[in-house]
Amino acid sequence: MRVLVLGGTTEARALYGLLEQAGARFAVTVSLAGATRAPVLPRLAVRIGGFGGVDGLYDWLLAHLVDAVIDATHPFAVRMSGNAVQACTRAGVALLRVERPGWTPVEGDHWIRVASMQAAARALGTTPRRVLLTVGRKDLLPFHHAGAHDWLLRSVDRPDASLLPPGARVLQARGPFDVAAEEALLRDERIDVIVTKNSGGTATHAKLVAARALGLPVIMVDRPAVAPAPTVADAEEAMAWLERLYTHDSSTRREV
Ligand SMILES: NC(=O)c1ccc[n+]([C@@H]2O[C@H](COP(=O)([O-])OP(=O)(O)OC[C@H]3O[C@@H](n4cnc5c(N)ncnc54)[C@H](OP(=O)(O)O)[C@@H]3O)[C@@H](O)[C@H]2O)c1
Repeated sequence: MRVLVLGGTTEARALYGLLEQAGARFAVTVSLAGATRAPVLPRLAVRIGGFGGVDGLYDWLLAHLVDAVIDATHPFAVRMSGNAVQACTRAGVALLRVERPGWTPVEGDHWIRVASMQAAARALGTTPRRVLLTVGRKDLLPFHHAGAHDWLLRSVDRPDASLLPPGARVLQARGPFDVAAEEALLRDERIDVIVTKNSGGTATHAKLVAARALGLPVIMVDRPAVAPAPTVADAEEAMAWLERLYTHDSSTRREV
């Protein structure tokens, strides 16, 4: 069975591990956007870079005789997920999305929930604050004119200087992070507020626990709407779906 995995997440990396163990039944290609400078690569075939929109992905699926696509991209990667729905529907290829559940507030959290990066920038207000910005490199523009805040930006790769809010300092780091280290960072940097996407998952959850312990507010950008597709929450469920598809396809082939 030929499988294309759209990757770039912790769940995708967990799935690579399961597919590496699954053996020759699955001929897998992992696709990465090429956004991260030193991505964690699997021991599977890898292609890097965009497909060229819906048409490009559709052509790729046909040219490589793909039987199934697993969309394990980030919950905020809505363009890629939307393209996958359209291309797979057109090509008649089975599609499954792996989407980790979002975070939900618990007692003691002070979340200000907003629908977009622009709203997050507005929610900071005009009084200068010390901000830990953890929204990723792509979404920095709305913060350029968000006020004279003291910005500490954390991201896997260093963004171009032109993308940074004025005076922003950059902390280059890749999760998982732990609570003690997050608390220390928030204290040492005298952070007043955290801005984050509702990415969900465990790798970057510690900052929320640390914020709760220190009584700090969190501006939480809710997930954007994404084109509907059959969805599971983790790599194990995705693997079970692939096994079922494989068994079903093999028995159908035997019957023909
Ligand atoms: N957005 C986030 O917060 C975030 C966080 C962590 C990791 N990531 C990962 O970073 C990558 C890019 O995310 P994004 O938010 O830029 O996505 P996006 O806005 O949905 O996608 C933009 C374009 O990048 C290309 N692309 C995205 N993911 C791809 C993949 N896995 N393989 C090949 N091409 C891909 C596609 O180009 P074409 O139209 O040319 O095919 C897509 O139209 C994804 O793999 C995602 O899982 C994103």
